[in-house]
Formats: sequence, structure tokens, C-alpha cells
Amino acid sequence: MAGFVRGHPTLAEHVVIRDPSCVGVGKDVYFGVGCYLHDKAQIEIGDMTHFGPYCVLYGPLLIGNGCCIGANTVIAARQQHPNCPLDEAFATYGQDIRLIVIEDNVWIGANVTVVPGITIHTGAIVGAGSVVTHDVPRNAVVAGVPARRIRWREDRELP
Ligand SMILES: CC(C)(COP(=O)(O)OP(=O)(O)OC[C@H]1O[C@@H](n2cnc3c(N)ncnc32)[C@H](O)[C@@H]1OP(=O)(O)O)[C@@H](O)C(=O)NCCC(=O)NCCS
Repeated sequence: MAGFVRGHPTLAEHVVIRDPSCVGVGKDVYFGVGCYLHDKAQIEIGDMTHFGPYCVLYGPLLIGNGCCIGANTVIAARQQHPNCPLDEAFATYGQDIRLIVIEDNVWIGANVTVVPGITIHTGAIVGAGSVVTHDVPRNAVVAGVPARRIRWREDRELP
């Protein structure tokens, strides 16, 4: 990793940060083995947010405090343009780039994909294997492809 990230994240082995000048983190941020942070856009992360192994981040992203992001999760604020004309190549046509916001204390399970433009509000849980295509309300538990609400966190008593 050339250059430095603002803040001092803990990096497990084989973490790739393509452009450290694009990345800012708070205190006690952890990236698991093999995480990949793409260049070309800002990635801002709050305090005590942890990423499991092999997470892939494409900015621009705003990720809050105290979040847990499961292994193999892809948070992609940029994608090939879905409205690319039929006679153009996806590889050379402009990209569709929309900020993703993940607020505080969000838990994302393993193998989740978050698509451009999404906000996941404070306290939400995203089930393993979900594809998040709509904003997730505060304290909702969502799961599936596409992710749908299965309950609210406050619906369940503590054990
Ligand atoms: C989302 C999750 C927290 C839900 O837990 P829960 O609230 O106890 O939910 P339940 O097990 O009672 O399931 C409720 C319903 O949602 C479904 N469901 C739960 N998780 C699901 C998922 N990831 N994808 C699709 N459906 C799911 C269940 O099948 C059940 O449906 P049914 O009533 O038709 O049988 C949990 O299932 C999950 O995905 N955890 C992530 C685990 C993980 O990735 N760990 C590693 C990284 S930390």
C-alpha cells in the first residue's frame, strides 16, 4: 500500500487499498484478510467498524460507526451503466455512480451485495446472501434477493 489512509485502520494480510488518499477512517477500524478498496472515489468510515474477509468496496461510500460487514460483501457505488446504448461497449461507456450511505450500527451478513444509491439506516440488519436494491429503514431486518423486510428488530424480546 503506497501513501497512507487518514486514520489508522488495522489491516489483516493481503488488504489492497488502491488509493489511500481516497480513504478516511475513524478509530479502531478493521479490514479482514483480502479486503479490496477501489480507487477513484472517497470512502469514509467511522469508528469501530469491522470488515470480514474479502469485502470489496467501490466508492463513493459513507459508512458509519460500529458497523459489522460480513465476509465477501460487495458494496458498490459504481457500476457499468445499465442504459448503455446497444451499439456501445460497457467497458468504455460512462459508469453509473451513486453514493451509498451505511449509517451507524448496521450489521451486514456474509455474501451481501449493495447496489449504487442505497442508504441503509441506523441499526438495520441485512441477512446473509442478500442483494440490497432498496433503502433499508432504521432497525429493519431484511433478507433475500432482492432484500425484503422480514421483521423489525424491536419486534423480538431479548433472550
Ligand atoms: C438475517 C438474520 C440475522 C435473521 O435472523 P432472525 O431474525 O433470527 O430470522 P429467522 O431465522 O427467524 O428467519 C425469519 C425468516 O427469514 C428467513 N431468512 C432468515 N435469514 C435469511 C437470509 N439470509 N436470506 C433469506 N431469508 C432469510 C428465514 O428463512 C425465515 O423465513 P420463514 O419464516 O419463511 O421460515 C440471519 O438469518 C442471517 O442471515 N444472519 C447473517 C449470518 C452471517 O452472515 N454471519 C457471518 C457474518 S457476521
